[in-house]
Amino acid sequence: MGPTLYQPVEDLETPALLVDIDAMERNIDEYATFADESDVSLRSHVKTHKNAELAALEDEMTDGGGICCQTLGEVETMARNGIDDIYLSYQVIGDRKLDRFCWLSQKVEKLATTVDSDATIDLLQDAAHDHETTADVILEIDVGLHRTGVGPGPAAVALAERVDEAANLEFDGILAYESHVKAEAETESEFDKLCWEAMELAQDVVEDIEAAGISVDEVKVGGTATSGYSGKHPVVTEINPGMYPFNDVGELELRPWEVSKDDCAATVVTTVISVPDDDRLVVDGGSKTFSLDKPQMPVPKNRDDIEYVNASEEHGWIDTSDSDESFAVGDRLEFIVPHVCTTINLHDLIIGIRNDRVEELWEVQARGKVR
Ligand SMILES: Cc1ncc(COP(=O)(O)O)c(C=O)c1O
Repeated sequence: MGPTLYQPVEDLETPALLVDIDAMERNIDEYATFADESDVSLRSHVKTHKNAELAALEDEMTDGGGICCQTLGEVETMARNGIDDIYLSYQVIGDRKLDRFCWLSQKVEKLATTVDSDATIDLLQDAAHDHETTADVILEIDVGLHRTGVGPGPAAVALAERVDEAANLEFDGILAYESHVKAEAETESEFDKLCWEAMELAQDVVEDIEAAGISVDEVKVGGTATSGYSGKHPVVTEINPGMYPFNDVGELELRPWEVSKDDCAATVVTTVISVPDDDRLVVDGGSKTFSLDKPQMPVPKNRDDIEYVNASEEHGWIDTSDSDESFAVGDRLEFIVPHVCTTINLHDLIIGIRNDRVEELWEVQARGKVR
């Protein structure tokens, strides 16, 4: 039988994905307070957990800031579960998807999507026209990540004008996702400087578009690492972090001055299945339990004397050579997840824990909904 409410954590079958609810609520509160003090909205990115109950909790704790999704499948899951203010931070391409988007936009109170080219604008306009609806549009600006988005300058203004002139599109503003800063900054002052520079580019774009007579009501920016820096710039109206309720080893290593192990709410509890030597053991969580899509390995939650050094699919290899403890088959070890978004995506269920018991069970509802 799967986990049940009020079950003691020590009785859970492993490997099990846990979220410490107290830590999660503290993290959400911290970002919500920052947003409030900085006079920006906080729209949580639910790609991280893909669960509508958590989305509703974030929406409530951030004063109705709404949510972001990265796939239409996520939008559908959230909409079917009562979330009514959604921004799809992704381009909608293909007739079937455009139909789904336009149909959904008539069901959801507020639904916006993203464009960054003539083609994305024209296809969306045609679909919105066919559906006799109006689509809310955000223009994505490339402020340094060099993923999607149009660079600052005349091309960005031309696209804003194209949206503005399209009969069935409503120009809401811009997205300036600055996560290149994560790869470039190593210190707090570098985060501050590079985020500010990216926001200055966004500011230039806003001024250029407004000089063309189009009002830019929304400037959406920020992930978990950058929101607290970029959100201080006056041009920003909204931050869109996703991982912030949970954190992970990536965030812990990136910003040690502000993220501690206590802030890492998402962990996996594993069981020792083999102790082949004095200086190593094997747990029941490998690469099908912890996503290893980034360089980070799982980090032990409550201790520093052992190291997760390698993984095969169902096996986690732990170096115990620095530990004075002797380990036995059946011992339990808890690890902070290396990358929380892709780790949650490996699991069916997130188990919410408080006072060492199961308090919530959140299904990863939009898992696999990549279309
Ligand atoms: C456009 C956009 N906004 C916000 C986020 C959330 O960022 P993070 O996962 O760092 O919290 C992402 C994550 O990929 C994103 O692509």
